[in-house]
Amino acid sequence: MEPSIAEDETVPQGGVAYVICSMSDIPSQRARGFELMQVAEDGTEQPFNLVIVRWGRQVFGYVNRCPHDGVKLDWERNQFLDPNGIRLMCGKHGALFELGTGACLEGPCKGKNLVPVTLSVIDNDICALGVTLAEDVDDDDEDEVTSCSDEGGGV
Ligand code: FES
Repeated sequence: MEPSIAEDETVPQGGVAYVICSMSDIPSQRARGFELMQVAEDGTEQPFNLVIVRWGRQVFGYVNRCPHDGVKLDWERNQFLDPNGIRLMCGKHGALFELGTGACLEGPCKGKNLVPVTLSVIDNDICALGVTLAEDVDDDDEDEVTSCSDEGGGV
């Protein structure tokens, strides 16, 4: 996978859109996980696990962490959906989450929510907004992000 840089006027002034992957990297009605690094306020880098669901032209992003136990949902890599393919599911406990809202509908965390991550599709790339990610993660994993600063910003 070769993420590319995308620019778009929908990116908030001074904000950064991180290209996570291309739309074509996630088939419609599927979900995929990304193991990234986030830069915290103190400058340290921390794991940032993201799950993206694609439904046609719509994309939904959540932190890949169950609200009840703090673990990843995909106990088998990239197995995020329930057998019907219409909910996110914890692979260990079977908790079910609504695709569009991240609300837990059934399971030990019923009534809680996955943490949403704002996504935007820019030039056919799925980009994450509102987070600060470490760029060019240099490990053996295929996940890697690039960013596009709003260089036209005046202030
Ligand atoms: S870790 Fe929360 S339902 Fe499985």
